Amino acid sequence: MDLGLKGKRAIVTGASRGIGRAIAERLAEEGATVAICARDDDAVQEAVTAINDAGGKAIGSGCNVKDAEAYAGWLDKTAAELGGVDIFVPNVSGGGGMDSEKNWWRNFEIDVLHTVRGVEALLPALKESGDASVVIIGSTNAVEFFGGPMAYNAMKAALINYGSQLSQFVRAEGVRVNSVSPGPIYFEGGAWEMIEGTMPKFYESTLRKIPAGRMGTPEEVANVVAFLASPAASLVTGTNLIADNGYTKRVQL
Ligand SMILES: NC(=O)c1ccc[n+]([C@@H]2O[C@H](COP(=O)([O-])OP(=O)(O)OC[C@H]3O[C@@H](n4cnc5c(N)ncnc54)[C@H](OP(=O)(O)O)[C@@H]3O)[C@@H](O)[C@H]2O)c1
Repeated sequence: MDLGLKGKRAIVTGASRGIGRAIAERLAEEGATVAICARDDDAVQEAVTAINDAGGKAIGSGCNVKDAEAYAGWLDKTAAELGGVDIFVPNVSGGGGMDSEKNWWRNFEIDVLHTVRGVEALLPALKESGDASVVIIGSTNAVEFFGGPMAYNAMKAALINYGSQLSQFVRAEGVRVNSVSPGPIYFEGGAWEMIEGTMPKFYESTLRKIPAGRMGTPEEVANVVAFLASPAASLVTGTNLIADNGYTKRVQL
């Protein structure tokens, strides 16, 4: 199946490793030109080089999306360099934690505001594309109990709601908006590898909840994102696609 991603111009935030990196690689494999950022510029350059060496087209530079001014400048510069934008995947998260109010501010500023600011800055370009797609990265933590009353869980729920509301607002102008909510995703250097080492009981109990008996991989999330980002998903907007191998138990109506 040809997803129709050839020649598309995509921006993926937080793509030097993990899920964001796999999304950038997948989009590039499908023929899109990808632009990426992360705070560590060296790590971004390593990812850009790897994608280009594999035959893809990538550009990127260091940017902290929490810094509103720097982020706005990066988006502007990047959209100009790409010559337009067809796909936006805001992937950065502030991560978990519930020890203090600072987590709420962090997840609001990073998860929510970096997505909203990104969409607002890129909407003119996305509308100009005529066939554009925003894929927000949510989490199954937004839809089922996980760990406790974490800002991360609530802010992911806010993002999914935002994406759904936004989808109604922009579809007539050629922009689809969806969320992908991964369950636990395991990779070297990722959060679940760290949890496996530091909280083995919690890791094992999480694993037992997944009927497939294993956590997902960044590449499996990337496949779902690539589909929703592509013209092949032309009928899909306003949805939140759960990608968790059966980890969550609710009936999805
Ligand atoms: N892993 C899971 O099990 C899982 C499950 C459900 C949902 N998710 C969601 O999937 C997304 C990616 O998760 P992941 O596990 O792949 O994350 P990760 O391993 O922590 O990678 C995050 C990426 O974002 C960059 N980054 C972090 N803070 C940034 C900032 N302020 N500005 C710019 N870049 C920043 C990191 O590079 P630098 O450190 O150099 O900035 C890195 O490239 C997140 O939205 C997460 O909530 C993950």
